[in-house]
Amino acid sequence: FGPKLLAGISLLLTAGPTREAIDPVRYISNHSSGKMGFSLASAAAEMGAEVTLVAGPVNLATPANVSRIDVESAQEMLDAVLPEVEKNQIFIACAAVADYRIADVAESKIKKSAEQMQLALVRNPDILASVASHPKRPFTVGFAAETNNVEQYAKGKLERKKLDMIAANDVSNSNIGFNSDNNALSVFWHDGVTHLPAVDKQTLAKQLLTLIAEKVRTK
Ligand code: C5P
Repeated sequence: FGPKLLAGISLLLTAGPTREAIDPVRYISNHSSGKMGFSLASAAAEMGAEVTLVAGPVNLATPANVSRIDVESAQEMLDAVLPEVEKNQIFIACAAVADYRIADVAESKIKKSAEQMQLALVRNPDILASVASHPKRPFTVGFAAETNNVEQYAKGKLERKKLDMIAANDVSNSNIGFNSDNNALSVFWHDGVTHLPAVDKQTLAKQLLTLIAEKVRTK
């Protein structure tokens, strides 16, 4: 990998899950470990980029030379990302943002009584789509974790969210993706595709960033 392919380029990333409060002691979330996003942040810094990493709650050390902003909920993630958009030439949305949040977060701990209870949920903002529709949008890359019809869904997201590139992984294969140290990606852009076979997330991060660097330069 060329030594400093991203020198002079600023890159903004989201990583990890989000946590949506139910009450002061409970939340809904997902199994995202943040490893792919943190690998990308670390590799981008090694490749010379100035990196800002907006991270949901994860158990990972901040990579060297990366400035990190910690958030919990999707709304907090959006609020942290928006002021950074104009300062960055590349945005990569790696976070597994909760699609829904609790409509009314209880102010005190919910006590158990009835045999069944219902929680009303409302849609969260789409951080990636918000960045992609920003007037001064960076080169915008999304991720798609799919269990079936990977290519069809990924290409659909590329168009619908108006992205420059989308990296899709098949999460039905438990050897790769989510909590695993390895991953494989199919990367789509408007007039091309490439498949990055299963490898450790650090190597994969460098391969994806090399591809992004090429596209940013020829944009
Ligand atoms: O539509 P879907 O959630 O599958 O899209 C996944 C991509 O969109 C990922 O890049 C993810 O980080 C991003 N996303 C987001 N905000 C959301 C939902 C998804 O940034 N609320």
